Amino acid sequence: MKTTLLTPETDENAVKTAAELIRAGEVVGMPTETVYGLAANALNGEAVKKIFLAKGRPQDNPLIVHIADFDQIYDLCPAVPPRAKLLADAFWPGPLTMIVPKGDCIPDEVSCGLDTVGIRLPSHPMARALIRESGVPLAAPSANTSGRPSTTTAAHVMHDMDGKIAAVLDGGACGVGVESTVITLALERPRLLRPGGITLEQLRSVLGEVDVDRALYEKIGDDVKVSAPGMKYRHYAPKAPVTVVRGNPQDTAKYIAAHIGDFTGVLCFDEYKNMFPNCIVECFGSRDDLGAQAREVFDRLRAFDATNVTQIWAQCPSDEGLGLAVANRIKKAAGFSVVEV
Ligand code: TXA
Ligand code: MG
Repeated sequence: MKTTLLTPETDENAVKTAAELIRAGEVVGMPTETVYGLAANALNGEAVKKIFLAKGRPQDNPLIVHIADFDQIYDLCPAVPPRAKLLADAFWPGPLTMIVPKGDCIPDEVSCGLDTVGIRLPSHPMARALIRESGVPLAAPSANTSGRPSTTTAAHVMHDMDGKIAAVLDGGACGVGVESTVITLALERPRLLRPGGITLEQLRSVLGEVDVDRALYEKIGDDVKVSAPGMKYRHYAPKAPVTVVRGNPQDTAKYIAAHIGDFTGVLCFDEYKNMFPNCIVECFGSRDDLGAQAREVFDRLRAFDATNVTQIWAQCPSDEGLGLAVANRIKKAAGFSVVEV
């Protein structure tokens, strides 16, 4: 299959063409404010199957459904929890996915046999234009090959998906850079399943108590039932193994500098880039600039794949604010191989 790159700057019909492909049951790379998605008609099980094929995604990992206006949630969810309205008023459109009870119109291909569905109203104007123009909600996981770092530019989507999907809609680089926060409202108490662009502190400011799923902090074995199936898989991983070093940034930089071997890569804060001679160094933002770290982290992890490094050391922010999401992605890239100094 030839994958067409649709560029709205030079092609005024780009969104229209993408929507026609969606209506014809094809898969299209879609920009959102978090990361790029692989979008298909969420109400068409056959179309959704193509997403799983393109990504090589395990069959038990359900997809998020994207809507363009809040009221669309009533078509997808028979009993919208009151907390969903509270969160939507505070954070939609934006990088938040809510897990709610699912309606009968959601095919099994989307929900993978669960009785819930994840819903998100993205803020990216091109994502919303595509959803509206398609006239259907769009199921979309992140637009990377399963297990690899998520994609934050159209070029990265082309790298992973060329020949596997019909088209990629180029909406420029993603503003947030890590995926949406996932919270479930289908349990008695709200629970954070994946940290993202909306912070735990922000969720608690609206809902009061919010539990945190243990999969955020530890590696989950294959035999354990997890709340978000995606959390049990190795994720975001460059080809070389990653070890995270946590602690005060000055100390972690010194620790890494003392452990450099041959063909070593280092993912570090900007301030420490000169401490690692003879290494491939990728900086992912200033130590206090969590926004930059979120935007950069996947691109920098991907960059190591173009080099000959055989091991990667990574610095990592602490768990406050957006740091929880950035640290989670780095720890997952490392398969939770973490050294505390
Ligand atoms: O920012 C994002 O959320 C991006 C953009 C494209 O919107 N999408 C994204 O999708 O990151 P994906 O499929 O890569 O991650 C969705 C996560 C997975 O961990 C999945 O297991 C979980 O959400 N999830 C989806 N539906 C669920 C459900 N019904 N119950 C529990 N977890 C669910
Ligand atoms: Mg993903």
